Amino acid sequence: MYAGEVLALVGESGAGTSLTARAVLGLTPRGAAVSGRGALRGAPVTAADLGRWLAWIPQDAMSALSPVHRVDRQLALAVRSEASATPGARLRRGEARAVARRALADVGLSGRAASAYPYALSGGMRQRAVIAMGLVNRPELVVADEPTTALDPARREQVLGLLRERCAATGAALLLVSHDLAAVRRHADRVAVMYAGRLVETGPAAQVLGQPLAPYTRGLLASLTAPGLPRRSRLPAPDGVQPPPGSVGRGCAFAPRCAHTTAVCRGEEPGPRPVDGRLIACHHPPD
Ligand SMILES: Nc1ncnc2c1ncn2[C@@H]1O[C@H](COP(=O)(O)OP(=O)(O)OP(=O)(O)O)[C@@H](O)[C@H]1O
Ligand SMILES: [Mg+2]
Repeated sequence: MYAGEVLALVGESGAGTSLTARAVLGLTPRGAAVSGRGALRGAPVTAADLGRWLAWIPQDAMSALSPVHRVDRQLALAVRSEASATPGARLRRGEARAVARRALADVGLSGRAASAYPYALSGGMRQRAVIAMGLVNRPELVVADEPTTALDPARREQVLGLLRERCAATGAALLLVSHDLAAVRRHADRVAVMYAGRLVETGPAAQVLGQPLAPYTRGLLASLTAPGLPRRSRLPAPDGVQPPPGSVGRGCAFAPRCAHTTAVCRGEEPGPRPVDGRLIACHHPPD
């Protein structure tokens, strides 16, 4: 990812977007076979980076907030614990409280809402608190997995706009997992499309969503039949079934469903290659 950009990670349900987003933060399931590793400005990502340089914004706000502390207090605790990672920089209690208050005000929570317990807040306000919590230590990268799907549709755009705005204001890059292609088109600089656990097409949002090149991306977008891009919580699948990530052996995962399949597609996994300003993992991208 580039500094300060918004990269959307999209795929049909089960494509592996959540697992990939978590893997970026080093949060892989116990026992998983992991190859490769994440790096931030060239340094390997460690557990200590989470909550400091890296932030995780989950779908369900309740799992990100402690039920037993008022929101301003938990933000202040986060400020103190993480600032202490830098020796000598640990803020005093009063200073941490002020930083927490400011972060909450920045997402529109002040007064009583700022000092409420999470259960006393509406879903939208809770998700605002989670955004404030994620950004309070000025991370360089924010990873958000469908951060607004738990909200009613009317609130989604507002909260997503707020998340993007706060990331821009603090200079954080945002990795956004989303099924909402209309929102992706509005908010993302780049889009990465996954199929069966693999990236198939990555490039500027307008290009990938406007003129998809990989056969899978083309099929996916063609399956969105309504004029424009409808807002949906789950992407519809082009005809056929996506194999589970990790189950695909040799070859291209999309080969069994693709109209352009040849022997090389069945025998060899396509690596990402640059085509027209993006990266396409396909043996036969259109010219
Ligand atoms: N690279 C991988 N290798 C093996 N298994 C994987 C891999 N990526 C994901 N999985 C597994 O595939 C399943 C679906 O992955 P995941 O939950 O990340 O999908 P998703 O794209 O987030 O789906 P949804 O859109 O429904 O949230 C999970 O059980 C996950 O552990
Ligand atoms: Mg998911």
